Amino acid sequence: LNYRVTRTRREIFETLVNGLLRLEYRGYDSAGVAVDGPKKTDTDNNKNTTCIFKTKGKVKALDEELYKKDSLDLDEELNIHFGIAHTRWATHGEPSPVNSHPHRSDKENEFVVVHNGIITNYKELKAYLINKGYEFESETDTEVIPKLTKYVYDNRENDSITFSTLVERVILQLEGAFALVFKSRHFPSEAVSTRRGSPLLIGVRSEQELTTDNIPIQYNAKLKDGVEEKNSHNRPDSNAITSVGDGRPVEYYFASDASAIIEHTNKVLYLEDNDLAVVTGGKLSIHRLSHEVGENPVRAIQTLQMELQQIMKGNFDAFMQKEIFEQPESVVNTMRGRICFDTNTVILGGLKDHLKEIKRCRRLIVIGCGTSFHAAVATRQILEELTELSVMVELASDFLDRNTPVFRDDVCFFISQSGETADTLMALRYCKGQGALTVGITNTVGSSICRETDCGVHVNAGPEIGVASTKAYTSQFVALTMFGLMMSEDRLSLQQRRLEIIEGFRVLPDLIKKVLALDDKIKIIADELYEQKSLLVMGRGFHYATCLEGALKIKEITYMHSEGILAGELKHGPLALIDKDMPVIMIIMRDACYTKCQNALQQVTARSGRPIILCCQDDPEISQMAYHTIELPHTVDCLQGILSVIPLQLLSFHLAVLRGYDVDFPRNLAKSVTVE
Ligand code: G6P
Repeated sequence: LNYRVTRTRREIFETLVNGLLRLEYRGYDSAGVAVDGPKKTDTDNNKNTTCIFKTKGKVKALDEELYKKDSLDLDEELNIHFGIAHTRWATHGEPSPVNSHPHRSDKENEFVVVHNGIITNYKELKAYLINKGYEFESETDTEVIPKLTKYVYDNRENDSITFSTLVERVILQLEGAFALVFKSRHFPSEAVSTRRGSPLLIGVRSEQELTTDNIPIQYNAKLKDGVEEKNSHNRPDSNAITSVGDGRPVEYYFASDASAIIEHTNKVLYLEDNDLAVVTGGKLSIHRLSHEVGENPVRAIQTLQMELQQIMKGNFDAFMQKEIFEQPESVVNTMRGRICFDTNTVILGGLKDHLKEIKRCRRLIVIGCGTSFHAAVATRQILEELTELSVMVELASDFLDRNTPVFRDDVCFFISQSGETADTLMALRYCKGQGALTVGITNTVGSSICRETDCGVHVNAGPEIGVASTKAYTSQFVALTMFGLMMSEDRLSLQQRRLEIIEGFRVLPDLIKKVLALDDKIKIIADELYEQKSLLVMGRGFHYATCLEGALKIKEITYMHSEGILAGELKHGPLALIDKDMPVIMIIMRDACYTKCQNALQQVTARSGRPIILCCQDDPEISQMAYHTIELPHTVDCLQGILSVIPLQLLSFHLAVLRGYDVDFPRNLAKSVTVE
């Protein structure tokens, strides 16, 4: 939003589109902008109109659309202008222009909104608004927000209602996660933005910076040791906590990520949950929701020192590393709106209508490739236990090679991060042809597997860029286990077990953080191992999948030979590999396989092997036999695999870096393999 700085509309578009291009790394499937003014083709020439452009695909497609002859008067000069833009990674509704943002309240575009996050109670809100006569055009959760804003506006008690009061009333009705920016022709050149659970920052570029680059920024609210002083004179109303700008030229940038704005300013302030930021009359003020009591906190303006590339990856050296460290949040995103910790219920909306049919089935067949197959292996046991059905897990290619018999009363699950893997897609078509019910578990809304399955679950891990899958695996793990919980809701004999697992889910993000805190120790181990040729990973029971997945991570990005070995098979062959020089990682957790794993450990140490052991905290019996230990927090057995895989993700990352390889783009591999 620029305030009293003359800009052509072309420059405004460039700023918005460049910002989106900077965010493309987060994933994209469609993009859109909303700006002031009528389209050239509009009959209504009112300058207060908001026009919207949306396209499917890359940001580049949007850029091309904007420069079409009939779009807008690009050379018009404006001195107050507020545009919003968005790049979408679908969570509800396939990628299409109508599902992309900005979303609008009505055909006149009275209120337009961009949203990052998920509104979990959108169905209830949508039903309410439809009942009140509001018409919806998209399949998204977001569309309820502008519609609800218009509803509140249409039902306002008087005309003096402010834009921020409207927005406040709207967000009080929203559940889920959001970062939002609102624009309205009823409040021209006013911006309101807010967040809960999703990130949002505001960049500020002052008059001085707009004219010369070197004069420091001056604010009404002074900066003191990086923290703004509270100064009641500068606050436009009593609960404003930050106020910037005094009517002189200034530009404000709202973004979910600093990479979108860093080329314009490095002065940013980060909003916190339930902050409402308002720009009006060239002034930015930040409020808490009015019903909140207590002291208003102060938001500091920070000067970012980071380079663009670095900002995109946060403080991380590689996307894979960033994605590993995102897991405390990504597993929450998978659970969000699905597990209710108050009532201990689990509802997967995408499967609800098929639950009866699934419960009547003969068996579950879970199919995938690579890491996604490992997620099936990891959850097989708990699915068998909770569904009391026979569960087959299958590699898609082998499943097809065997012409595996599939029946009408089978339920076939297809696990795929990308939703595009050709082998998995072929297996899906094969099962459909046999008349089975097909269920997709993917991270990519609108993907082929999503579209072609009868029903499914989006794991909502967020875009995964590193070729080696990490956070998608743990989210698939969570989603499949949640399915088991949903299936067992009415089984009396399983209630205790269900409660234990739901409690495990509740504390999972914190336990993941504890595992991530072991990173330094894991790096030291990587320092010792990185020149080795081979690395074995051994375990059993709930951790067999971790062995397979850990070994795959090592192969994929370090190019070392690595093998995941079922500890029960040790004596049937792999034991011949063990000597003092062969590095072996063993996973020995306190679960039903503990004693059997101890036996395997004895066999390894008896052959002078020097095992690195992943075990539970405070297990002296195991630690004394280990060359190194990595001690993990203990959780319920069927979720322990989420914690045991993370050290191996980290280890493979450090090994690859030490060996000098490109972690995010390993040789010969692709993120999505669309050929059989
Ligand atoms: C490729 C990737 C793997 C991935 C596998 C399955 O081989 O390199 O990391 O696990 O495909 O991908 P999907 O998108 O179906 O989960």
